Amino acid sequence: MRIYLVYTILLSIVLSSCTFAKKEKKSSDLIDDKISILISQMSLEEKIGQMTQITISALEKNGSPGELDKNKLKEAIQRYKIGSILNVPNPGAPKPERWHEILKEILEETNKTDKKIPIIYGIDAIHGASYTDGAVLFPQQIGMAATWNPELVEKCMAIAAYETRASSIPWVFSPDLDLPRNPVWSRFWETFGEDTYLSSQMGKAMINGFQGKDVGAPDKVATCVKHYIGYGSSTTAKDRTPSIIPERVLRQYDLPIFEKSIRAGAKSIMISSGEINGTPVHASKKMITEVLKGELGFKGFVVTDWKDIIYLHTRHKVAKTMREAVKKSVMAGIDMSMVPNGYSFFNELFSLVSDKEVPMSRIDDAVHRILRVKFELGLFDTPVTDPKDYPDFGSSTSVKMSYNASAESITLLKNRNNTLPLSKEKKVLITGPTANSMNFLNGGWSYTWQGEKSDEYAKDKLTILEAFQHKIGKQNVEYALGTQIFEEIDIAKTVNLAKKVDYIVLCLGEHNYTETPGDINDLRITEPQIKLAKALAVLNKPIILILNEGRPRIINEFENDMKAILQCYLPGNEGARALVDIVYGDINPSGKLPYNYPRYVNSLQKYNRKYTESLDNKEQNNDASYQKSYDPQYEFGHGLSYTTFRYSNLNIDRTEIGEEGIIKIKVDVNNIGERKGKEVVQLYIRDMYADITPEVKLLKRFQKIELQPKESQTVLFTIGIDDLKYVDENNKWIAEDGEFEITIDTISKKVVLKKEL
Ligand code: BGC
Repeated sequence: MRIYLVYTILLSIVLSSCTFAKKEKKSSDLIDDKISILISQMSLEEKIGQMTQITISALEKNGSPGELDKNKLKEAIQRYKIGSILNVPNPGAPKPERWHEILKEILEETNKTDKKIPIIYGIDAIHGASYTDGAVLFPQQIGMAATWNPELVEKCMAIAAYETRASSIPWVFSPDLDLPRNPVWSRFWETFGEDTYLSSQMGKAMINGFQGKDVGAPDKVATCVKHYIGYGSSTTAKDRTPSIIPERVLRQYDLPIFEKSIRAGAKSIMISSGEINGTPVHASKKMITEVLKGELGFKGFVVTDWKDIIYLHTRHKVAKTMREAVKKSVMAGIDMSMVPNGYSFFNELFSLVSDKEVPMSRIDDAVHRILRVKFELGLFDTPVTDPKDYPDFGSSTSVKMSYNASAESITLLKNRNNTLPLSKEKKVLITGPTANSMNFLNGGWSYTWQGEKSDEYAKDKLTILEAFQHKIGKQNVEYALGTQIFEEIDIAKTVNLAKKVDYIVLCLGEHNYTETPGDINDLRITEPQIKLAKALAVLNKPIILILNEGRPRIINEFENDMKAILQCYLPGNEGARALVDIVYGDINPSGKLPYNYPRYVNSLQKYNRKYTESLDNKEQNNDASYQKSYDPQYEFGHGLSYTTFRYSNLNIDRTEIGEEGIIKIKVDVNNIGERKGKEVVQLYIRDMYADITPEVKLLKRFQKIELQPKESQTVLFTIGIDDLKYVDENNKWIAEDGEFEITIDTISKKVVLKKEL
């Protein structure tokens, strides 16, 4: 009895003290003290419960999708004391009011427990609150990267945070910081593309937008960066298959993105479902405990991906039993298991700790990390929000922001003879399988996992066809599906219709998908689409190709027949409006490719290739029979405008730098065209010689600016010795003395590094 009394007093001190001023939360030491007291009072079941995450569908009533089964909920919370729930209930995205009811029902159950520790609900809000009906859906990450505008991305994610919290959810499984080495990968579009620096800057912007300065504010959410690490580099490019990445390479290209996200304050991290060099990351003590928590000093908590502890046993075959799988992963440093169905993790871990095979210190560390985020989020004070406090949910200002993001992402890849912008008086044929569906504009993780219900949820939003009809009137627009993505239909009929119009707007791309259902065997755009493009090309009418795709599908069989090409990625609910405004010149395009668009299926080099990947005929003995080894359809950083920017006066303030030195770089950019426009000033560095073969170029800085016609601006950059470093064969970052070339646009300057200076 006395013990219980002491416990109750202590707990009430802990809990009531958190209701006081937010100021207290700023002191992480105070929070740590509270957590330590709380943990000292927790039973083993309560601790392991905190480490257990269950999917909401496991708590639904059989036969009544979306409705919680009271007994299952009671079992989860009273018996197993689970600390977290995830995912969207069946059959898909609820409205904020319904989310509120669900979260309240869960809260009522946790309130019946001794310690009333709130659960942390996690959701894949990856392009807006994408599992909430009525939320603003932004371009998917690959489009966000194409804006090259981190400030804009931050603002968009602040809206996403607000709308997620309006849905009573405090935790998002975003951003995705994978670095895909092969564009065939079905999750390519969930990333920021192929460059480490661009991904790092965008990742930081997303985290800032989601978390703000105080993650406990009512309009902020905790992030879960994912999928640590090496997930996007599998040899086969099929989802969840093995990667082979030398540590030197991993440290140079993949790790810095996660490191920056930790510096930006990411609260949690999700582990990759893949394996690196034969070790599943979920079983890698080296990658989780030594590198992530040790070297990088990550203080947040580590969650598994879906079912991944079970898969150590059933798929990866590195654990003979479930018990061994649980032990391996918890000892590797996993803090929370996305089980997500059932309590195998709970039971095995309970038994492992009872048998002293997993020390209590490991459990306490995991629970401490999880509770810290719950405290920082203010969940003990405000476990559930009220949608009424979020009047700006789905507001027109937020919708405008999504439109702006689409407008800045859409990338003009080609514009032969200034075909674009079009005149509104001309008649157009809109055709192609992606022309009239919201499913393709949003892609996966939209309302449902695979995004097959956007047409239903976003029926009030405009498809590409509808946006054209709005813009120039139905009388000027003909429409024919042309073909489906996988199945050929109606090509001949479409060609006939095309004879009646001035321009053909050909909308090609991909269906909605993510993860393993999005695996493909061939990066070429699908056969029926190639046939449609070729059949239309025969007419010799100007064709504007609109690409609506998550990954760059090869188009070289008909690219030459296209007069203009716009890449709109997966631009979200406002994408079609932005696209059509670009087609008619009301918006001047400013997106730039965040990846190399390959020309051939077997030539998938990244822009930062090595010299040997880039030899031209001249270097191959001038022998014309040699094929160019580096020949992307469009290069990383490429994107045209309706105006012209001229670069001049690249100036560096010194030609030699030492260990401590910095270089100030200036360049003048002049809009010499007739329209205002936005330009991304990109600074690349090339290490002329190094012990590890240097890249031909590496992006080191960029800045997006806007210039009126005839306006010019001097853009300033600063770089230091860290920007000249690479990872050597001992896996250490070093800078070697010698010459480096700094390039902006087509102008270059050399600088010499002399460390003793
Ligand atoms: C995906 C993660 C996602 C998780 C939760 C997994 O299948 O790989 O990216 O966050 O499911 O929905």
